[in-house]
Amino acid sequence: MKEVSFEYKMQVCHEDELSVEDKQLIDAAREACKGSYSPYSGFSVGAALRLSDDEIIKGSNQENAAYPSGMCAERVALYQAGAIHPHKTIKSLAIAARTKDGFTSHPCPPCGACRQVMMESEMRNGGTPIRIILYGTQVCYIIEGGAKFLLPLQFEKETMNTHSQSNLHRQ
Ligand code: THU
Repeated sequence: MKEVSFEYKMQVCHEDELSVEDKQLIDAAREACKGSYSPYSGFSVGAALRLSDDEIIKGSNQENAAYPSGMCAERVALYQAGAIHPHKTIKSLAIAARTKDGFTSHPCPPCGACRQVMMESEMRNGGTPIRIILYGTQVCYIIEGGAKFLLPLQFEKETMNTHSQSNLHRQ
């Protein structure tokens, strides 16, 4: 038996240190929070995607009295992009979250289901990693290498082939 360890990389910075493009996407994610329907949690999440032609697609969390029927902001945006622009690559994704008291000081990490959907979007993109920008008023996290840095040992299309290797073996 052998032990294997993995390295997960992200950049930690303040919004002011980011490029104009990344700041613009954060603004769009903050703006997207306005469309949040979150009467149950009181937690508004906004997501903004930058496509290959620089079009920005926004999404926000949509809750439901039947709780599991709700949907996270990230998946609303990713599915919208997939449905409307199935052939455009997603370059980057920004996420912002707020309560009635304002935006969170630290980033809102995407849930497991959203990470899984991000992986699939990258796969649809021909494997191009999505630059992930997690916004907080005090600190931002930038994950440049894409969803594999958020989701080790992914279940993916390839997993369903008899001789497939996990993505960890392919790294
Ligand atoms: N939420 C998101 O929109 N994205 C995430 O990645 C985490 C959670 C939403 C779902 C729900 O409406 C609220 O935040 C509280 O869980």
